[in-house]
Amino acid sequence: MPVKNLMDNGGGGLKVTDLDGYYLPTFNQFKTHEEELRSMPDWMARDDDVMICTYPKSGTHWLWEIVSMLVKKKAEMIGTVKETAMMEIMSKQTHDNIPSPRVLNSHVYFEYLPKDFAKRKCKIVYAMRNPKDVAVSFFNHHSKLLEYEFSGTWEHYVDRYLKGDVDYGTWFDYTLKLEKFMADNPDYPIIATTFEDMKEDTLREVTRIAKFLELDCDQAFLQEVTDLCHFDRMKKEKSNLAKVDSWKDGQPGMYRKGDVGDWKNWFTVAQNECFDRVYQEKMKDSKVQPRYTL
Ligand code: A3P
Repeated sequence: MPVKNLMDNGGGGLKVTDLDGYYLPTFNQFKTHEEELRSMPDWMARDDDVMICTYPKSGTHWLWEIVSMLVKKKAEMIGTVKETAMMEIMSKQTHDNIPSPRVLNSHVYFEYLPKDFAKRKCKIVYAMRNPKDVAVSFFNHHSKLLEYEFSGTWEHYVDRYLKGDVDYGTWFDYTLKLEKFMADNPDYPIIATTFEDMKEDTLREVTRIAKFLELDCDQAFLQEVTDLCHFDRMKKEKSNLAKVDSWKDGQPGMYRKGDVGDWKNWFTVAQNECFDRVYQEKMKDSKVQPRYTL
């Protein structure tokens, strides 16, 4: 797959992999991966698979940790990183070798995921995050992860993000696709939560997710999972597992702030107005209502 350097209006670049016009990160540039990726719709699912579906920077690591603890029925930090269960970067062999019950995760559109997964009605946990905080988080992600060779500034980033000149396309397309999927498939077992709901009352959302997964968990266990997955705990313990040399200055940055409303510290008035205009246009037929503050 070709690697593309996407330029912004200020001349800043961002390297992505181009899969027939759908942009992916560059981390899957090992030789055989194109074939793996293209064959993914034909991979076999298992009835007890759970898939976490998110647009990037929506709290995927947090959710993966929570759901993994719930299905393992063990309030214990998972000894590996969520990237080990990320569909678009794993090989078929890795996928097939993960022991059940698998907690998988992905940012790609459904059409790239195994068809068998939908056929079996495997459970999906979907989290949305307000698109302004996602923009800030994604900017920091691109700035700090060396593989992107990102050379842009925040000044030009909002425009790039709104256009979808980033890996996985726009937040709008992803969110609209999920909304349509849920409307078209009202009986599909999918639970929708948001980063903001999880921040507002983590225990409430953990309890809701456990119920959705049909897990019989007592209150003390749910509380333990909630506490273990607190931002400070995860930042401290999971950062030790990060590949230091993937990050600028050797500083892993996956756990940055974990707040709702940080966008207010970044967006200028003009950027915010432009964002709102584009949002109104793109989401005019949508019922989605992101929460920008708590
Ligand atoms: P910020 O950059 O705003 O801090 P993803 O896992 O989808 O890549 O999302 C990353 C975002 O989730 C980052 O947001 C990160 O700090 C935040 N995050 C990760 N773990 C968290 C937790 N336990 N609680 C709250 N936010 C968390």
